[in-house]
Amino acid sequence: MPILLSLRLREHWIRPALYFGNNPISLLGGAITTASGVMMVGYWLMDLIGRGNSNPYLGIIFFLILPMLFILGLALIPIGMYVRYRKLQEKRKIPAVYPEIDINDRIFRHGIDIVLVATIVNLLVVSVASYRGASYMDSPEFCGQSCHVMHPEFAAYKISAHSHVPCVDCHIGSGAGSYFEAKVNGSKQLVEVAFNRYPRPVPSPVKNLRPARIVCESCHTPAKFVGEKLLVKSTFADDEQNTETQSVVVLHLGGRDSLSHLSGIHGVHLGHIEYITTDATRTTIPWVQRRNADGSETVYAASALNGKMPQGERRLMDCIDCHNRAAHTFETPEDALNRAMAEGAISQSLPWVHKEGLALLKADYASQADARAKIPAQLAAFYQGSNPQVLATKADLVKNAGQELVRLYSDNVFPDMKVTWGTHPNHIGHMSYPGCFRCHDGDHSTKDGQTITQDCTACHNLLAVDESKPKALADLGIQQ
Ligand code: HEC
Ligand code: HEC
Ligand code: HEC
Ligand code: HEC
Ligand code: HEC
Repeated sequence: MPILLSLRLREHWIRPALYFGNNPISLLGGAITTASGVMMVGYWLMDLIGRGNSNPYLGIIFFLILPMLFILGLALIPIGMYVRYRKLQEKRKIPAVYPEIDINDRIFRHGIDIVLVATIVNLLVVSVASYRGASYMDSPEFCGQSCHVMHPEFAAYKISAHSHVPCVDCHIGSGAGSYFEAKVNGSKQLVEVAFNRYPRPVPSPVKNLRPARIVCESCHTPAKFVGEKLLVKSTFADDEQNTETQSVVVLHLGGRDSLSHLSGIHGVHLGHIEYITTDATRTTIPWVQRRNADGSETVYAASALNGKMPQGERRLMDCIDCHNRAAHTFETPEDALNRAMAEGAISQSLPWVHKEGLALLKADYASQADARAKIPAQLAAFYQGSNPQVLATKADLVKNAGQELVRLYSDNVFPDMKVTWGTHPNHIGHMSYPGCFRCHDGDHSTKDGQTITQDCTACHNLLAVDESKPKALADLGIQQ
């Protein structure tokens, strides 16, 4: 029986297939399919044994272009067979018995040659490309610059504390699963960009970000961020003198001490607080649950819920629930300007520069180029109109201030990507965005009326709030 079956199979299917398949189009198709197939399998095997290249963009070749070639080749085979069948039929030359497979047949041998040559050429091309391009393609410059979609994130990244951490360290997970996910995502995004269909702004949070604690704790050991942190912030007023005041805050960062006690801002949240959020930026958090040391659970619910469970994403709190903008810190115009003035990049000696600068930062511009042209010109025009003396004596300072304002604008606002002040909220603190007060707002309570603390001193000691020349700074020896 099995012998009979294999005989029938050979006579009625394999031999005719090879007979009609023996034509240039089908052979070319076979060559393309074999070559791309061998390449893909080879790449995946290399990857499995850990010698592959972790570059997500190289994956575009292997997960998008090669599969397309593979399918194209496959499609060419029956097309060629059909063409040959029709030709022979016209000439009434279809044989009654299909010939045996003949290794000496010229076209058949050439077909094998083509497959071999194509495979070797492909191998050479891709291996050279991967060795040459790999280091470049893994670099933040490639991720952030080659694709204009990423300009806002790249600009914010360049000036962040993490400007030396490669994008892929945070954005591409290890292991086969997340690797494959990144490839598929990368290819999908490439298609979106090619057809101009990508979302503007690029949405956050990033769904396939590596688990924050694995990413962040590979550099920041939890035991090493124990303690108090001093924060000094300067604010400049909208008066002629740009009067400076300062806040001095000691944050109770806490952490895990050498006896494994958890304390303070870092210690109390990690690993045992879950929440449900109902909006994409994780700003609205109506439901919070704490797992207590004894295994019991305490639920804090916003009053608007009236005892119902909200629908939304459920998350175990981790680093990026507070440090969501660790690598891409977009500022508010107020913060950006205050910081630039505190650093002296914009001179406090220019009258009204805080008020004018803020207005110029917040104004609408068609593009970054538009802002680059208008901001310095309008600042100069302001002094020309109101106080020409300033322009005469401090021309350099006015020019520097104009350029610095342009820089602040260009680091934060990207009209073509619809990224503007406040597009990406920062969850640290509570001054500019809800941040900590997403939960610590006094409105989340347990059934018996306990609320999540809103006590200023639970989070920090306020040594000074908006004081001019705070005594606390003098006591600490930081300021005269
Ligand atoms: C230290 C870790 C880290 C590094 C390094 C990093 N990112 Fe991110 N990135 C994040 C986090 C966390 C978010 C999510 C922000 C949120 O949820 O608000 C994010 C969000 C994004 C987003 C989504 C849009 C947005 O602004 O939220 C893009 C696009 C992005 N990153 C691109 C990049 C590029 C390009 C690089 C390299 C130039 C890079 N990232 C480097 C951690 C990182
Ligand atoms: C590859 C190592 C590395 C990884 C991964 C990393 N960091 Fe950092 N981080 C650093 C270094 C180095 C600094 C200090 C830079 C400096 O002081 O200039 C830093 C500084 C910081 C700071 C203080 C500076 C600031 O911006 O306020 C915070 C907060 C921080 N990291 C949070 C995170 C979080 C959250 C993650 C995970 C999303 C993360 N880091 C991932 C290396 C890393
Ligand atoms: C409940 C919110 C919250 C969570 C969760 C959180 N942090 Fe922080 N972290 C803070 C605050 C607040 C600061 C101080 C902010 C500042 O410096 O302006 C801070 C500061 C830091 C700093 C800077 C310390 C310094 O001395 O400047 C690092 C590094 C850091 N966090 C890492 C992490 C890592 C890693 C995780 C996750 C394991 C994490 N944080 C989770 C709120 C949080
Ligand atoms: C749940 C914790 C928490 C509570 C409660 C809290 N704060 Fe804060 N506060 C913070 C954090 C975190 C920062 C640091 C923000 C940053 O790193 O920029 C901060 C910063 C500040 C600053 C510094 C100035 C600035 O612009 O950032 C002032 C002033 C301040 N808080 C006032 C208060 C007052 C007043 C209260 C009580 C009504 C209060 N806070 C309650 C967490 C808290
Ligand atoms: C997802 C909700 C959520 C967010 C966001 C959040 N917390 Fe908390 N926090 C809690 C819960 C729940 C508790 C435990 C209840 C309590 O102790 O009042 C807590 C407790 C604390 C405590 C201990 C209070 C005490 O009396 O022991 C501090 C300090 C604190 N949080 C600071 C912060 C700071 C600073 C931020 C912002 C950077 C922040 N939290 C953001 C939910 C949150």
